[in-house]
Amino acid sequence: MKTLEVKASSKTYPIYIEKGLLGKAAQIIRGLYKGDKIGLITDSNVDRLYADALVKSMEDLGLEVVKVVVSPGEGSKSIKTFEEVCERLLAGGVTRSDIIVNLGGGVVGDLGGFVASALLRGIRFIQIPTSLLAQIDSSVGGKVAVNLPSGKNLVGSFYQPEAVIIDPELLRTLDIRFFRDGMAEVIKYACIRDEGLFNLLEGNDEHTIVDHIEDIVETCCSIKRDIVELDELDKGERMLLNFGHTLAHAVEQYFNYERYTHGEAVAIGMIHITRKGEQSGLSAKGTCSRLTGLVKKYNLPFEMPAMESQSVIDTLLLDKKGSSRELSIILISEIGKGFMHTIDKSSLGEWI
Ligand SMILES: NC(=O)c1ccc[n+]([C@@H]2O[C@H](COP(=O)([O-])OP(=O)(O)OC[C@H]3O[C@@H](n4cnc5c(N)ncnc54)[C@H](O)[C@@H]3O)[C@@H](O)[C@H]2O)c1
Ligand SMILES: [Zn+2]
Repeated sequence: MKTLEVKASSKTYPIYIEKGLLGKAAQIIRGLYKGDKIGLITDSNVDRLYADALVKSMEDLGLEVVKVVVSPGEGSKSIKTFEEVCERLLAGGVTRSDIIVNLGGGVVGDLGGFVASALLRGIRFIQIPTSLLAQIDSSVGGKVAVNLPSGKNLVGSFYQPEAVIIDPELLRTLDIRFFRDGMAEVIKYACIRDEGLFNLLEGNDEHTIVDHIEDIVETCCSIKRDIVELDELDKGERMLLNFGHTLAHAVEQYFNYERYTHGEAVAIGMIHITRKGEQSGLSAKGTCSRLTGLVKKYNLPFEMPAMESQSVIDTLLLDKKGSSRELSIILISEIGKGFMHTIDKSSLGEWI
């Protein structure tokens, strides 16, 4: 089993990574927690596939499980579902000294983490991420949130788990579109921090890469760990993780979150900003074509769709509201080297 340690200001916690680890999750949790009640939060897809075995192994160790199942999808990251989950956990007798376990993708992790942060003023929790995106990104770093009708992740907090338990074997049942979505973020990590990872991705395709998935999950988690340790509260270094994301948010929003998944929009955003970086002499020549080749290889979109540019600019400026005349964009000087570049808001149009 691979173990990474995350040193956050509030606590230090482990990330365990191993194929088949779900079978040992109950034991790991038992080792961390001496009480007898667990609030298990999952969505109905993951529930159908994995919850029974986990619940049974917990019960075999004398734990009582209060299971709460939410609908799959972003719609569950809502205040309404937050309230329902809190009520269900309380009705099941979960108290402040118990523990919450989130079994699912980024939606369950963000929702369940926010529940844990707020219910009874905070209950300890454990992440068992089941999607590629959740295993390499959302389960690490302590950002938990729900959405408001006016925008994503607007109500949330920084709240660190007791542990993250990752079983890459679970990715076998993940729908290909969600797998690709996660691969866009893997490509992002390679671009900002790890040319070796980029080379590995180039030498494989979406079928053969699964043979390397355990190492990839570890590499991505350790990059994210390193970055969030430097900047837990997202004021500087952590912005590197936004490579491709500023434009991605605008693209997702422009098409009402219907045409592109997040990962697809990130792929488009990374390529576009790197092309602009090359044109400005800030990224090495050839970087964009190498990145485009990789994005195509993993069956992600690479072309910026036709959009009305003023509307994109307005969205971006709104996204960065409150800050000064300048805004920061993330570029790569070459593959594996991300950096922050500050531009004047008035020159934003040149980057679109
Ligand atoms: N907290 C953070 O730092 C952070 C970072 C990035 C993204 N996020 C959030 O993550 C969310 C997206 O996460 P996601 O892409 O995992 O979406 P998701 O949780 O909706 O999962 C995607 C789909 O896959 C299904 N699924 C999950 N694991 C499965 C498995 N092993 N087998 C079969 N099906 C499975 C789910 O039921 C769902 O239908 C967004 O809300 C985003 O804001 C948070
Ligand atoms: Zn992302």
